[in-house]
Amino acid sequence: MSATEIRSLEPDDAPACDAIVAGLPYHFGQEQGRRDCAAAARRDPGLVAVEGREVTGFLTYVHRFDEAAEITWMAVRADRRRRGIGHALIGRLADELVAAGRRTLVVLTVSPSDPGPEPDDGYRSTRAFYRSVGFVLARDLPREWDGGDTAVLLVRTLGAR
Ligand SMILES: CC(C)(COP(=O)(O)OP(=O)(O)OC[C@H]1O[C@@H](n2cnc3c(N)ncnc32)[C@H](O)[C@@H]1OP(=O)(O)O)[C@@H](O)C(=O)NCCC(=O)NCCS
Repeated sequence: MSATEIRSLEPDDAPACDAIVAGLPYHFGQEQGRRDCAAAARRDPGLVAVEGREVTGFLTYVHRFDEAAEITWMAVRADRRRRGIGHALIGRLADELVAAGRRTLVVLTVSPSDPGPEPDDGYRSTRAFYRSVGFVLARDLPREWDGGDTAVLLVRTLGAR
């Protein structure tokens, strides 16, 4: 198996990102979400993990105000999860954002207070992942997603003052 490298997301990577999303039907079960993610992969800055020529993970982000950034979409190919690719993507993003003078990274995911049923490998593992890379749960945003799950805001400080 080739070593994993992290590089910037390029427009040609978008179909591979779509395929990763299609392989995670629990996490990307809503058609609008898949469409929004596909649009972000074609429009926004991001990073991809590659093994040889294969894209095995990606994230997209947006800048928020002058000193923050938000991860908007992130996924690792189903057969490559829990092998450190997510850590590598977040590590590179944090380095790039610190170098660009940004001090806070945020992300939204489904809250532990969401009343819906949740399998162990659902958003519980997503939250465990974000906590493992330094995020803390900050607050619920119950009206963030129209008629859907309760969102939770997670926050990570970048670098040190
Ligand atoms: C969340 C995701 C991006 C993480 O990427 P990854 O490459 O699997 O994560 P890594 O291998 O770098 O890190 C895994 C770590 O996260 C934590 N973690 C992940 N799943 C966990 C679980 N079910 N229980 C406890 N901890 C878990 C652990 O600390 C784990 O480290 P370990 O395997 O040594 O115990 C990926 O699993 C994924 O695509 N999930 C589905 C889509 C998704 O949730 N996207 C996020 C935005 S909605």
